[in-house]
Amino acid sequence: MAQEISRDIGPVVLLGPPGAGKGTQAKRIMEKYLIPQISTGDILRYNVAQATELGLKAKAVMARGELVSDDLMYPMVRQRLSQPDCKRGYILDGFPRTAAQAQWLDVLLEDKLFENPRPTQSWPIVICLDVDYNELLLRITGRRSCPTCGRIYNVHFQPPRNDEVCDLDGTKLVTRNDDRLEVIQPRLKAYQEQTAPVVDYYQRTGRLVWVNGDLPMDEVTGQIFRILEARHS
Ligand code: AP5
Repeated sequence: MAQEISRDIGPVVLLGPPGAGKGTQAKRIMEKYLIPQISTGDILRYNVAQATELGLKAKAVMARGELVSDDLMYPMVRQRLSQPDCKRGYILDGFPRTAAQAQWLDVLLEDKLFENPRPTQSWPIVICLDVDYNELLLRITGRRSCPTCGRIYNVHFQPPRNDEVCDLDGTKLVTRNDDRLEVIQPRLKAYQEQTAPVVDYYQRTGRLVWVNGDLPMDEVTGQIFRILEARHS
């Protein structure tokens, strides 16, 4: 896959319900444009695994499929976005997830919270993956991931070559704690009630682009790349 390192890409926000393919597509954008994937879910899961103070506070909330509180999310996101590798752009996967988080991000991007203004910082392009409900259930229940390299598989759509083992490093694949059937419904409910307003927010501000996330992975990737290219042409 061709890589692109010469241009500023700016912030890219991937929106969509649990299982829509945000993480899958974020990794492909990252590989092509060499900008970091910032998955708030991955950062939280790392903190849970390391039993940090943040992880201990977030663990039970995540296990119930609910959203972690903003007072924990904001310092975490602000700290990550201030890292030098975000200078040319970054992919936000899982943030913002509430209308309040979307407004907070806008304020952050206006540099009001940065000590040194960054005039080249542009508004995010927001790509929302639209996926059928039954397809989401299949994707979530079939998901497996590699705890070593983070690669995502799906036993239905994208199985590893050898049963339950990562193709790249041979690590045994794991199922996420919140992919249990009893947690999937609360996660989808949280999306409908708390994240759907984020879609409205970006639609109103003219920054939202819909992508049919039901399509095969490569076709979704192709659409996303075309959107990013059109923005920078
Ligand atoms: P998070 O980790 O962000 O999870 P999520 O939003 O529920 O999304 P998922 O990771 O489940 O799905 P995805 O869209 O990335 O799909 P994927 O690419 O893996 O959040 C987890 C928790 O953290 C939250 O519940 C909350 O508690 C907390 N949290 C995180 N951010 C927060 C925030 N901002 N505020 C508060 N709390 C927060 O794909 C799914 C499967 O489908 C894979 O198996 C993949 O192989 C397959 N697949 C993908 N695309 C396709 C395709 N086109 N065709 C066929 N299969 C496909």
